[in-house]
Order: sequence, then structure tokens, then C-alpha cells
Amino acid sequence: MEIKTTKKFIFIPGIFLITVSAIAFLINAEPAVYKRKIENLNKNWQFNLGNVINGQEIYLDISKWKTLNLPHDWSIEGEFRKDNPAGVGGGALPGGIGWYRKSFIIPKSSKEKIIYIDFDGIYRNSEVWINGHYLGFRPYGYSSFRYELTPYLKFGEQNIIAVKVDNSKQPDSRWYSGSGIYRNVWLITAGKVHVDHWGTFIRTPEVTNQSAKVSIQIKIRNASQKSQPVKIKTTILDKDDKEVAEAESETNISVDSIAEVVQTMYVSNPVLWSIENPYLYKAVTTIFSQEKAFDDYETSFGIRTFNFDIDKGFFLNGKPLKIKGVCNHHDLGCLGSAINKRALERQLEIMKEMGVNGIRTSHNPPAPELLDLCDRMGFIVMDEAFDMWKKKKTEFDYALYWDEWHARDIEDMVLRDRNHPSVFIWSIGNEVMEQWDKNDSSGTIIARELASLIRNLDDTRPVTANCNDQDTLNPVIRSGTLDLVGYSYNQKGFIQFPEIYPGKKFIASETTSALASRGHYDMPSDSIRRWPIRWDIPFTTGNPDNTCSSYDNCSAPWGSTHEETWKIVKKHEFMSCMYIWTGFDYLGEPTPYSWPSRSSYFGIVDLAGFPKDAYYMYQSEWTNKPVLHLFPHWNWNAGDTIDVWCYSNCEEVELFLNDNSLGTIKKTGEDLHLQWRTVFIPGTLKAIGRSEGKEDLIRIIKTAGTAAKINLEADRKVISADGEDLCFITIKILDKDGTVVPYADNLVNFEISGVGRIIGVDNGLQTSHESFKTSYRKAFNGLCLVVLQSDEKAGKIRLKAKSEGIIDQIIVIETK
Ligand code: GAL
Repeated sequence: MEIKTTKKFIFIPGIFLITVSAIAFLINAEPAVYKRKIENLNKNWQFNLGNVINGQEIYLDISKWKTLNLPHDWSIEGEFRKDNPAGVGGGALPGGIGWYRKSFIIPKSSKEKIIYIDFDGIYRNSEVWINGHYLGFRPYGYSSFRYELTPYLKFGEQNIIAVKVDNSKQPDSRWYSGSGIYRNVWLITAGKVHVDHWGTFIRTPEVTNQSAKVSIQIKIRNASQKSQPVKIKTTILDKDDKEVAEAESETNISVDSIAEVVQTMYVSNPVLWSIENPYLYKAVTTIFSQEKAFDDYETSFGIRTFNFDIDKGFFLNGKPLKIKGVCNHHDLGCLGSAINKRALERQLEIMKEMGVNGIRTSHNPPAPELLDLCDRMGFIVMDEAFDMWKKKKTEFDYALYWDEWHARDIEDMVLRDRNHPSVFIWSIGNEVMEQWDKNDSSGTIIARELASLIRNLDDTRPVTANCNDQDTLNPVIRSGTLDLVGYSYNQKGFIQFPEIYPGKKFIASETTSALASRGHYDMPSDSIRRWPIRWDIPFTTGNPDNTCSSYDNCSAPWGSTHEETWKIVKKHEFMSCMYIWTGFDYLGEPTPYSWPSRSSYFGIVDLAGFPKDAYYMYQSEWTNKPVLHLFPHWNWNAGDTIDVWCYSNCEEVELFLNDNSLGTIKKTGEDLHLQWRTVFIPGTLKAIGRSEGKEDLIRIIKTAGTAAKINLEADRKVISADGEDLCFITIKILDKDGTVVPYADNLVNFEISGVGRIIGVDNGLQTSHESFKTSYRKAFNGLCLVVLQSDEKAGKIRLKAKSEGIIDQIIVIETK
């Protein structure tokens, strides 16, 4: 075999790695193919709540600081108070200033490398020091960013990173933000010649069934002391890590500069990324330099085509697809904003189960893990940059930093997220105040600037803005820069869109804002209505002209009931999507209420992750699963008149009360629910769903007796013993026959032993002021939740749930 060696490179397909390895080992005993090291830096930080003068000093008494692991949100540990400056809009939890420190050793063997620290997100106004040297300030709490540490490091000795987080000036957000280093932190060790930060961009400009052209743009940074010739090799691997294409290029990079190469490859018979089969490829780029300063860099991507058609809506890989989306804020209920991959995955699983195929990251760039999950699980993401531009919405919000930071922040969002196949739409802003001033051109100027900053970095995705002023004089729409005109609400106006905006593309970028508390139904009467909250808090708003009856009749005045908007979007092809406000309840913005409410009522699923009834309306419409959801509960006063509803995709449903048929109903026309009205007598309600003459599904609701026992259900019985994985356990309060007691609010105490801990409790009630970080919780309408986290040890977690006067229950979870 011929061995081809040049002064600069050694390259033999097949045995290349072995050869370089051997030679390098002989020269300086370094591992030959230098692997970029990406280490999680979350463990063992010291934290102090409150300001510290010169908290960055190397020698500092931190004996009173708390040791913790990131991601961390200190606000969620605080007390709900009416007078917390965030207000109920911000979740009524405290902000403040916090300091974090961590000491770590970088081995001497890394002396020739370049070392970075990557923060996925710090809320907000972070300042970072390494060994007392100031690295920088970052105001926007949702941007990911990096600092280079190399020049200030002491190799083989302790280094100290210090981070000051200032979330003291509040209100600064219209929802709960959380405070602290609430996303992951990474330590990157790469060769001096390496792929730059977010330095690849993959496009697939030509895709057929036979072949996909894959073009990868790579930015390589030379941080070494001299000009370098480099060779860049990219290999595309399929899902099973089989090589399907490769390319090589060479270039020269001068000192302290960045070179860009573009490589083109073809993947035969590509498997396209879709909602049903979110197939991912991986491009592995390796940099070979003269001085063996290798780097390797992985870019996950998907191959898909899409377009928004003016008349026919959205097409993915040539097939029409209605985007059935939800908007979500970033908090994870009782975990606050501290990011946890399993908690995000659970949210997405719950959404997927309902039939959701789209996520809007309202109103800011999300944690990178959310996009990884959306890539893997198949969601159409609208990635949004801002809730405000230069004109503020709350007193101390990002508008304060707009002038200096907006360009950097929006560019960083695009650079970070543009390889995610799940990202289909960039949103430059949500209902920005600049929309409203028709005589002021700043809305036009900013919109055009932001769109062009995006297009310079990514020409493959449309740009939108969510506009609640849909007048043609709205300066944001008038700018003409939006590829998709995003309507926020105004569902009655959707239909006129083609007339008002001929030649433009429409999306319903935010819809609905219906209101409900899970499992709460008001006292029945002739005009049975369902309020979103407990009966003791006044209801102040509604949809005066809504025609939907009983259980789907509450929404913000600008919004609609769930049924109303879906009926419209369902009917019209050009309406490519809807993103419902919201998938999950979130902390803050309890509109239309104020204290004692502290979290939202808009979710289709409550804060604890328990579905409200509307969940099943969508599920019956958006999935092929057999659905038969019967409600309300069956505990009323004798003689009350009750409407019984059913969300189902069976052809017909027959309802029985104590074995007497109340009639069979078929869905007709636009019906999205079935309804029977009856006088309450205790006993059993039974619904039988039939399709094609056959009994498909049966649902039974019984009048519950008094609380008698506890039932525990885990989302997973086996979790990873990695110190991060979670187990979500639903607690149900049952009567002696196993029926959930619909009003039960028993206080449940938890005892835990074994290799795990409780990291959150909740019950979904918007007015609860109990802490999320205790080992007890009252049930709300029969349910509550406890979240367990594994230790880094395999074994068993034993959880006992007990409540006075009823039978307790134990559950055992295995960690592996
Ligand atoms: C919208 C806004 C959302 C949320 C929602 C509540 O106008 O974009 O952030 O405030 O209203 O209905």
C-alpha cells in the first residue's frame, strides 16, 4: 500500500487515524486525533444570594456560601408575595442579585489548547470573571454566549470563575423569568485551530428522493501563533453512524483570523426529516493542521424541504401539513426556569400526545436542549427573538439595552439555531410597541434591520413578527420585510387576510388565550358556565359575543375559546398554522386576575402537567388515537341541571346515567363536542363510543365518596442514575372504590429514602402560595405532583405519600 505523506498532511483513507496516531505518539506522546472536549461545568458551584463587594476576588471568604449544581434558579426557591417587585405578572417571586463561583483545574496537558466557557443562558445582566479578570457583561437573559479563558488560566492549578447575576431591577418581564445561571454551562477545550463558535451552517438546497445536495459552510479560527495551512474533512453520518458522504478542502489561515470554506456533498436516497420520522444526520468536521492541532466538530442536521404557499398553506417535503402549534414560556412549573432536559421532554411528550406538531418559543430564544428535543421528536418551531424592541413593556426590561445589544442578540440566536431542522420560522418580535405608532417609522426601520440581520446569516427560513395590530398602516407590517404576516388573535379577521394583504402569506402566530383551571366547574344552573378559577374570586372579563356554550366559554377578551379559533383554522387551506396561547400554564401573567393568583390560566395543560379538558378536544381532532373524554365529574347536588360533554372522534356516542340511556349523539357539521343536559342523580355516567357500528371505547365516571386512599403513578418506573434524570409522580386522592375525589384538597406529605430526592411539588392551582420546594403539597381537585431526581448512584428510590385519615401509598423507582 502506498503511504502518501506530505509535509503538511498525512492522509490515507482507511488507516489514516492509526498512522497519525502512531507518528504523533512518537513525537510528543499526544493522542493523535485530538478530540474537542466538551465538558459539562454544572457541578459544585458556590452561590451567595445578595450582592458581594468584589465577589470576583480570588481570595474571598466563601465559607457561608451554599454549594449547589447548575442549572439553578434562585427565584423559584423564594416566597410568593404580593409586594415582590416582579408583581404577579412576573410570578410574585423575588429577584435580586446573586453571585456564583466555581474553582476548577485545567490539566497542564491542555496548555497548547484553547479553552472557552459557554453559558447557555443567565437571567440576567451577568458579569463574568476568571481569576479576577473581567470577561464581560451580557444583559439579555435568553442569549447563549461564550468567553475565552485561555490567556488567564493557570494550568494544573485552581482557577476561579466568578459570575454576578443582577435581576434586581424589576419588573423586567411580563412573565416569570427566574433568576440565575438557569441553563447549562460548558467548558470547551479545542485545538488552537478550530471550528469557530457556532461555526458551521448546513443547507440542503436541492432535495429529491434520489439525492440531497448538502452544503456546509465552515468557519475556522486560527488562534495559534502563526499562519496555518489546514485541511478540513467533513463526513456525513446517518442515524446509525454509517458514512454516507464526505468532502475535503484545504485552506490557509493567517494568525488571529477566521477562514471560511464551503463544502458540498451529496447524500443518496436521503431520509427526509418529518414530523412522523424526524430523521437526523450528523456532519463531523475534522480540522487537520500542520502542527497536529486537530479539532473535530459535530453538527446535527436534517434534510427537508418546505414552503408556505399563499393559497394552500404549509408544505413539508411536498405534502400539505397544518401546523398545530402551541406557544410556551420557558419555565418548567415547580422547577422554575432551571432547565432540565427530561422536564422539557416530558412537556413535549404531553404536547405530542395531544397532537401538537408546532412550538413557538415565546418570546425569546429557548434553551438549546429544547431545540435538540424538537429535532428529535418532530416539531415545527418558530424561534422568537424578542418581546420588546426599543420601546419598553415593563419598566426595566430589555429595551434599556436595545441600542447596544439587539444586533448581537438576534445574530447569536440565528448562529446558534440555524442548523436545527425543527426551526422553520424566525420571529423578530412579539407584539412590539413600535407597531402602534403609525406616524413613527421606527417600527419599519427596526423590522427591516432585524430581518436583514437574520437573512445575512440564514436565507433558508421565513421571517415573521407576531402582530396584534393588523392594520395595513402598522409600521412593522408596512415595512414589507415580513415573509409571513403573523396575526396575534383577531380570528374573525383571518378570513379577510387575502383581501387586505393580497400576495402576502398568512400565519396565525398567536391564537386563543382561553382560560381555565384544571378540573374546576362552577355551580350548575341553566346558564351553566365554567369559570377559570375558584368560585371565591370574581370573574371580570369574558367574550361577550361568544356563542360557545358551557365548558369552553372563557377567554381573554382579545382571544377566543378553543373551539372558535380551531374551527376557523381547520376550514381554510391558506391558514397554514395556529400557535395557541399556551400549551402549558406558566408562572406569572395570571390575566385577567391579580393577587392571589400568581400563574397563568391560559394553558391547555396546567402548571403541574395535568391536562385540562380542552386537551382532549384537540386530541380528538389532531390525532388518530381513539378519543372519548367525558366530563365534568359526577359529584353535584341532587336536582342540579348538568351539561355533560364529550370530546371524541368516535362516529357516535351514547350516554347512560345509571344504565338509562340519555341518547346517542353523532357529531355533525362543525361540532367539536357532544352535549347532553340532564338532572343530576348520583351514580354512574357511562359513555359508549361507536364507529362503524362497533363499540370502540367506553368511559365511566362515578360519583365519588369521601377521600379514602392515595394512589401514586410514575411517568417512568426506571430512570437514569445520572443525578439529572427525573421521575414525575402523580398523586390521586381516591374514594374507597378507586374514583378520584373531584374536590379533594388533602394535604399530602412525602417521605423519601434511597438514591434520589424531591426537587419539586405542585398541584396546578394558580392561587396556591405553598412553596414548590417542600416535601408536602395539598391536592387540588384531587391531584398533585411530586418530582424526584436521581442521585448519581444506581439503586432504588422509595417514596411514601401519606395524608391524615386516609390510606397511604408507597412507590419504588429504580435508577440505573
Ligand atoms: C398576547 C401576548 C402574550 C400573552 C397573551 C395573553 O397578546 O403576546 O405574551 O400576554 O397575550 O393573552
